[in-house]
This record gives sequence, structure tokens and C-alpha cells, in this order.
Amino acid sequence: MSEITNMAAARNSAVSIKNLNKTIGKRHILHDITFDAYAGEVFGFLGPNGAGKTTTIKMIVGLLSIDDGEISICGKSVAKDFEGALDNIGGIVENPEMYKQLTGYQNLWQYARMRTGVTEQRIKEVVEIVGLSNRINEKITKYSLGMRQRLGVAQAILHHPKVLILDEPTNGLDPAGIKELRDILKKLAHEEGVCVIVSSHLMSEMELMCDRVGVIANGKMLGVYSIDEMLHASSGGGIVTFEVEAESTEDAMAVLSAYDPSASEDGAVKIKLKSEEAREKANEIITALVTNGVKLYSAHPIDDKKSLEDVFIEMTNQEEGDGQIG
Ligand SMILES: Nc1ncnc2c1ncn2[C@@H]1O[C@H](COP(=O)(O)OP(=O)(O)OP(=O)(O)O)[C@@H](O)[C@H]1O
Ligand SMILES: [Mg+2]
Repeated sequence: MSEITNMAAARNSAVSIKNLNKTIGKRHILHDITFDAYAGEVFGFLGPNGAGKTTTIKMIVGLLSIDDGEISICGKSVAKDFEGALDNIGGIVENPEMYKQLTGYQNLWQYARMRTGVTEQRIKEVVEIVGLSNRINEKITKYSLGMRQRLGVAQAILHHPKVLILDEPTNGLDPAGIKELRDILKKLAHEEGVCVIVSSHLMSEMELMCDRVGVIANGKMLGVYSIDEMLHASSGGGIVTFEVEAESTEDAMAVLSAYDPSASEDGAVKIKLKSEEAREKANEIITALVTNGVKLYSAHPIDDKKSLEDVFIEMTNQEEGDGQIG
């Protein structure tokens, strides 16, 4: 377990989900979903289309009922103490509800009236957090998608929730908009101690935004990893592939049989080596081929490094699903 995971384990969960199941109609959509997310972290809920992210998030924020299992928010059960649990949550599940003919400020004010204890000072504060101070008195019709999304975040955090949940918050945003939102969410988690949960189907995005990711595919949780752990998985787990090109693949395979070689379609012979002994073994392999008279064209380690996207696709493809990585 990495340091981040250990640190997280020592804290109290802000969101704790145990053995969550959901069936809609005849479809069993979620199977025993279990994970914890903590104060002060950005937790990414990562999975291909149709994996069950939105369904899980809807259950966390009380938009869908719980068939079986347990969700608690800051120690309060969503099933047993709905209002207590929901007091600690801010979220955007579908597009944030807004009155388009009103200004950003008026929208926040409308929303603040529905919540107890939201002061004018707090409205000013959240506007600054999301960087909308200059444009807050303009009508929503004049806002870009990125600005609307940021106003949505402002609205969701007005009541100082300990947990902020956003379903695919960067959908449709351009790279600059994504970065702005990412910085806001990281700041909320790392400086204000909010537990931020975001979903996405893009590993590349999660890598930049999150401290840990929970991977879901086909309604099942495949694991929860720190970004460091995902990076380690992508480095090939300490195995190096050594590739040999010889005039005769057959002869090379025979000479190297002790190394468990495999031949690719183009005749290259591949051998997997532990990275710590790769240099020594490479020397043995070359020497064995040369001393046995095998005519050698090239011998070199190949870069097996997978991108994190590849690791994610491999992981989720092991679960047959209806989804695609988009
Ligand atoms: N109301 C519903 N009735 C029947 N099936 C549903 C319903 N809502 C969702 N599903 C199914 O549940 C599965 C999970 O859907 P969900 O929307 O949670 O996935 P997701 O991970 O959010 O995907 P995406 O990345 O596309 O948003 C899908 O197979 C979907 O077809
Ligand atoms: Mg979804």
C-alpha cells in the first residue's frame, strides 16, 4: 500500500459505501460496490460508459433508492438519517439547475434562500473560490459552459458541505476550462479539507485531478488505487522484455529454451526478465547465441511501458461490459 493509501486509511471516511446493490427492472446494475472516500482528497470514480458511475452517485445523493447495502456520509446513514446525511453533501449530478434570465449572483441568492445559514458573505466567498467575481452580475445566458459549470460548483458548496460530488464535471469543457475546474476542486480538497468525488471515463484526466481512483466496470468495483500505484502498474511491474532478432528464429529459440522464450509473428524472439537482473541476463543471452553460432542481427530491451490509459483499458476489459472508453 502506498503512503497516500495509508494516510487515507488512518482518517475517518467522509463517504463510506458498503456492499451497495441496485437492480432497475430486471437489470442488476450495481454489484456489491464498496469504497471509502476521505476528507481532503479528490477521489476519482473511473469507469467506461455504462459502468454504473451515475447510478452510484445518484444513490449517494439520494436521487435513487438503495436496494441493498449501506451508504454513510460523515457517519450518517443515507437510509436511516437522510436529512442528516444530505446536509453534508453538495453535488451536481446532471446539469446544474439555473434560471437563465437571472444573473449568476441572483441564481446563487435564489439557492441560498433554500438553505439555512448561507450569508451574503458566504456567497461572495464562493464566487471568489470559483473565480467568477468579474462576471457574477451578468445573466447566465451570457455564460460559457465552463462558467456555468463553475457557477454550479459555487452553488453546490454554498452550504459548506464536507463532501462535494460531481458527475463527469469536465464534460464539454475545453482544456483551459478543465484546468480551471481542476484547480478549484484540488484547492477545495487540499486547502479546505473537502472530500471531492468526481467521476470520469478518462484516466488521463483522473491522473491530473485525483489523489486516488476507484475503478468500476460493469457495475463492479475493480479496486481503489493511488495515482502512484496506477503508475507502478503501468511501468510493467518490474519486468523487462528483451528482444532478439536472429537469422534463424528456430535456432535462437532452441539455444534460449531455458529462458522461456516466445516468438512473435515477425520472427523476433522475446524473453521476459526481471528488471533488476536484466543487464546480467542480457549479457548471458547474447553470449549463448554467439557461442552457439546463431547469426544475430539485433538484441535489445524493448519499452514495455504502458500508458495509464492502457492500464485502465486492460483492467476494465477483463470485465466484459457494454461500455466503451470514449
Ligand atoms: N433507469 C434505468 N433503467 C434501466 N437501466 C438503467 C437505468 N439507468 C441506468 N441503467 C443502466 O445501468 C448501467 C449503468 O449506467 P450508468 O448511467 O450508471 O453508467 P455510467 O458509468 O454513468 O456511464 P456513462 O459514462 O455513460 O455516464 C447501464 O448499463 C445503463 O444502461
Ligand atoms: Mg454517467
